[in-house]
Amino acid sequence: MNDIIEKLGIKGDDIDSWNEVTLVYSAALRQVQTKIEILNEEFQHVHQYNPIEHIKSRIKSPESIVKKLRRHGYESTIENMVNHCNDIAGIRIICSFTSDLYQIVDMLKKQKDLEIVAIKDYITYPKASGYKSYHLIVSIPVYLSDRIVNTRVEIQVRTVAMDFWASLEHKIHYKFEGDAPEHIKNELVECARMVSDLDARMLHLNEEINAKGRAK
Ligand code: GTP
Ligand code: MG
Repeated sequence: MNDIIEKLGIKGDDIDSWNEVTLVYSAALRQVQTKIEILNEEFQHVHQYNPIEHIKSRIKSPESIVKKLRRHGYESTIENMVNHCNDIAGIRIICSFTSDLYQIVDMLKKQKDLEIVAIKDYITYPKASGYKSYHLIVSIPVYLSDRIVNTRVEIQVRTVAMDFWASLEHKIHYKFEGDAPEHIKNELVECARMVSDLDARMLHLNEEINAKGRAK
């Protein structure tokens, strides 16, 4: 704990607010995670099918928060972290098919107590790296004893295949400190293309199987 506080340059009374801030982010993360689990259960109940393969959630490490603030030219303060770091609380939803992905996003958008702060659709508009995922920044009210704190959570929605690609790309990015050799970058772009192709073919197969099931 002490080294965390040191890294963020937090002293004295601020230690208290640091503890409170992390408590609030962790509460927001659990609330959003529960919402997603409920949607998945209800979907299973209605359609006898789980759109979600699995969910991962994490609180960003103090090291990464400091790094990100520095990268964006901000001092490491609690205020800056709350105002400029939208992914302190992060949830990743992994689903089987691209069709599931949009169902989940639509269900989330309909939740009245989730305010959609920002959307980045890297499915329709993949990054130059080949990265694909649907990102939502949402704000959820966390009810404390004496006030309500609207807290931001980043939700990433992607297929199993996209997740497989993103994990390896992340590892490579980290290994080469963001400066991977050209042939590796090109290979990754090619793999991303294969991932999209695989997703499309698996979806098509699944639809065909479902149609057969219904015709019986
Ligand atoms: P940061 O990248 O976190 O500074 O945020 P940003 O404001 O640029 O948002 P963006 O939507 O680009 O990225 C948010 C998160 O998405 C990242 O922290 C990663 O988890 C993931 N992400 C974005 N781009 C890539 C990518 O090219 N490869 C991989 N593996 N993950 C990515
Ligand atoms: Mg980025």
